[in-house]
Amino acid sequence: MKKLWEGRFKKETNKLLEKFNASILFDCRMYAEDINGSIIHSRMLAKQNIISVEEQKEIETGLLKIKEEIQNENFEFKIEDEDIHMAVEKRLTELIGPVAGKLHTARSRNDQVALDIRMYTRNKAHYITELLISLEKTLINLAEKNIDIIIPGYTHLQRAQPILFSHHLMAYFQMFRRDITRLSDYLERSDEMPLGAGALAGTTFNIDRHYVAQELGFSAVTQNSLDSVSDRDFIIELSSAISIISMHLSRFSEEIIIWCTSEFNFLKLDDAFSTGSSIMPQKKNPDIPELIRGKTGRIYGNLMGILTTMKALPLAYNKDMQEDKEGIFDSIDNIEISLEIFNEMLATITINDGEILKSMKYGFLNATDVADYLAKKGIPFRNAHKIVGEIVSSCEDKKIAIDDMTLEDFKNFSPVFESDITEIIKTENCVNERKSFGGTSKDNVLMQIKNGNDFLNSL
Ligand code: ARG
Repeated sequence: MKKLWEGRFKKETNKLLEKFNASILFDCRMYAEDINGSIIHSRMLAKQNIISVEEQKEIETGLLKIKEEIQNENFEFKIEDEDIHMAVEKRLTELIGPVAGKLHTARSRNDQVALDIRMYTRNKAHYITELLISLEKTLINLAEKNIDIIIPGYTHLQRAQPILFSHHLMAYFQMFRRDITRLSDYLERSDEMPLGAGALAGTTFNIDRHYVAQELGFSAVTQNSLDSVSDRDFIIELSSAISIISMHLSRFSEEIIIWCTSEFNFLKLDDAFSTGSSIMPQKKNPDIPELIRGKTGRIYGNLMGILTTMKALPLAYNKDMQEDKEGIFDSIDNIEISLEIFNEMLATITINDGEILKSMKYGFLNATDVADYLAKKGIPFRNAHKIVGEIVSSCEDKKIAIDDMTLEDFKNFSPVFESDITEIIKTENCVNERKSFGGTSKDNVLMQIKNGNDFLNSL
């Protein structure tokens, strides 16, 4: 088969090289970006009198036809065509003849691919943002609906202090809020249009890069042609933002897995979002959160991959950079489906509030409140801590909770205890007295929900 570069070559390309070199089987997914970029490039060439208006029309009609062929799956992606850019150009030549050869005026595949991948990742980042917003809405709905449910809060996975279930959910709201803003930072920084850099040094043609940028929805053009074709920071940034989203989803998944165990029994997943076992009839497995947790590995791997590929590459374009695509595509695909399914799974969970309530009795969740009580009566906190440590130890010996103690029992540990201690150690009180800004009191959590809604409305 004839190559676009046949002029310089005396021999046909080796078959293995053809296979090794080709990116078409994965970069074909950028066909729409490639064609849209080419259409605008051709319009710019006509506007600048580099090609004629008639030639541009022919080129544009041909490109639109190719887009349609690809959309209707009437287009065969062939290894010999190497990549999506060459495949489109070759087909254009078949459709409109030699005038197709004018499209590549003042352009190189180096700036063309830089443009395509920038546009592709930009669109995907917008979609991932939408998915995060919809997950945020699910979190707010769940937090509102279950505003009175109290769960044990943990540190070291040991029972610590009671918190509102909604407070726990809203902690994840904050993480995903940062993820949304991280994506928008990335979008802002990558909002520069690279086409017009040519192979590396710019072009001798009188092109209008600002026009191309504007037509393709970029607010600026890249400033240095070498950087334009060498930069893959935006892929690294997106890959990193996706890795952080994945890490957040994985932590949440881990908690859901734990909460669904018989040992915890805080949550039940909907049957539609659980799997069974081929041998154990009783099993209901949390495959979704497990798989999401598992996918974090490959997503981090993709980030390490692109960082390592880019390390030590001399300017400007090197073929190594073709390795930028599969990793980011994989991260995008996996975070998309993870966010979609996680959201649906979360929206359909059942909270075993009865079980949670029963379990609140154990673990001395109100011990800090007893210590705070003593400290408020003037006992230095360190002494108060010691006294309550002794209370806990004695309760443990007697196999009772602090709540089971009489006032007399309390007074044996310190004379400052009064009858109001019974009220102080009630779970609701422990939660609602934590009124410090950002704490778990119901009023605070309602304010977090309000602020959360404001944030979503501001987007
Ligand atoms: N398929 C190539 C890539 O993905 C396109 C750019 C090729 N440029 C070149 N000079 N070989 O990076």
